Amino acid sequence: MTRGLWVTFEGGDGSGKTTQATLLEIWLRNQGCSVVRTREPGGTEVGVLVRDIVLHHRGEVAPRAEALLYAADRAQHIATLVRPALERGEIVVQDRYLDSSVAYQGAGRVLDADEIRDLSLWAAEGALPDVTVLLDLDPAAARSRLNAADKPFDRLEAEQSEFHERVRAAFLELAASDPHRFLVLDATLPAAELAAAIRARLAPLLA
Ligand code: TYD
Repeated sequence: MTRGLWVTFEGGDGSGKTTQATLLEIWLRNQGCSVVRTREPGGTEVGVLVRDIVLHHRGEVAPRAEALLYAADRAQHIATLVRPALERGEIVVQDRYLDSSVAYQGAGRVLDADEIRDLSLWAAEGALPDVTVLLDLDPAAARSRLNAADKPFDRLEAEQSEFHERVRAAFLELAASDPHRFLVLDATLPAAELAAAIRARLAPLLA
């Protein structure tokens, strides 16, 4: 089967994923690549509805319900958008994937991390990215970036600092357990330097 290339960006809120995904998308397009830029939650029409619940619902959402909502978004996203694009040989540049579920719903919300991972893998029929860029940032630094951005916090951004510390530790643990897939970068580096490191990791895969 002809297959494209699948790159995901992970990291805490305010770590600069969107900036780096955008820089990568521009560079890939300049190389003449066909790129699908997407995100979770919310990469499909169904996903946009799910995103509104998980990020903006005002009442309680039980941890297992939250985990299933992210998994539902993921199932729809992979089946209808990501897998078809990869089968067409395109490059998928994606903000967040199952590592976010393991980190946020697993470590953050104290559900079992392996169960969360298995749930996501079931939802996505086992699909895993070729490369996952983890932008690692101390939650205190992330918080001052978010404050400076002056946007209202969503449900997860509004969590306490220990929650974000657990999320960060979980991301680093995931990366350490799969060094082949992960590229871990210090998110305090200048954006141009981070972008160059990401390009260097991907260039050999584009041939
Ligand atoms: P994000 O996509 O970073 O949105 P924005 O940049 O607009 O703030 O935020 C989505 C939030 O959803 C983020 O706080 C992490 C959370 N999340 C999970 O808890 N589990 C998941 O599986 C995913 C994909 C995201």
